[in-house]
Amino acid sequence: MSGRARSFGRLAAEYDRLRPGYPSEVLRPVVGTVVVDVGAGTGKLSTALARSGRRVVAVEPDPEMRSVLVGRGLPGVEVVDGAAERLPVDTGVASAVVYGQSWHWAEPVAAAAEARRVLVDDGLLLLLSNMPDVSVDWVRELNRLAGLPEELPDVTAFAVEGFTAGPVTRVPWDQSLAVDDLVALFSTFSRVSTREPADRERVLRSIRSCLAGHPATAGREVVAYPYVCVGLPYRRS
Ligand SMILES: C[S@@+](CC[C@H](N)C(=O)[O-])C[C@H]1O[C@@H](n2cnc3c(N)ncnc32)[C@H](O)[C@@H]1O
Repeated sequence: MSGRARSFGRLAAEYDRLRPGYPSEVLRPVVGTVVVDVGAGTGKLSTALARSGRRVVAVEPDPEMRSVLVGRGLPGVEVVDGAAERLPVDTGVASAVVYGQSWHWAEPVAAAAEARRVLVDDGLLLLLSNMPDVSVDWVRELNRLAGLPEELPDVTAFAVEGFTAGPVTRVPWDQSLAVDDLVALFSTFSRVSTREPADRERVLRSIRSCLAGHPATAGREVVAYPYVCVGLPYRRS
């Protein structure tokens, strides 16, 4: 794992408090009994999977992220130390291997080979990511103030060795966040956190004042922060 990939642990509690979960619609293609959640972090995707009553093997290399996940005590979820490139899972047992915001941390050739190994013949590899819905004007404005992308990337399925890509899904949904927590979320993004302290405070003040002034968010203690959850499904070929 690279240094940046190891950076999650010290922020595990903040990560868990502020980052989004997953809408159940994106998990519709997941069928069968055993699902491997790779780079499970603090268990945001495992939580959504556990609700469907499946057996989940949650694989996470970072001990601090893992400890938050273990603390959740999710029924049917087995938490294990491991990584995408060497899954601690038997061959041919998983009906689905899922990645929530974690595929880009893995070495793709080794991770694809491991997903192929643990999946049953027609098994599913599902790559998920949440993106702030910048088609909403105030969300775009917050990103502009923070120096973050103002356009939704045009996500198309890329090649994964040994798999055939299916149709991309896009599910709009939102996360309820206290205004203070939404400002705190921006302070965790590296484009903001790496600024000089005075500049960082200026950006965070401008974000707070945008939220206080926009008709959709003014006067609210809690706002619905909109995301688009993008799903890239692949079948073992
Ligand atoms: C952005 S977090 C996503 C966590 C969780 N899936 C979620 O949706 O909130 C990425 C996670 O991938 C883990 N990770 C980094 N490199 C990895 C690798 N090579 N194999 C598996 N997981 C990895 C990190 O420790 C971190 O917990």
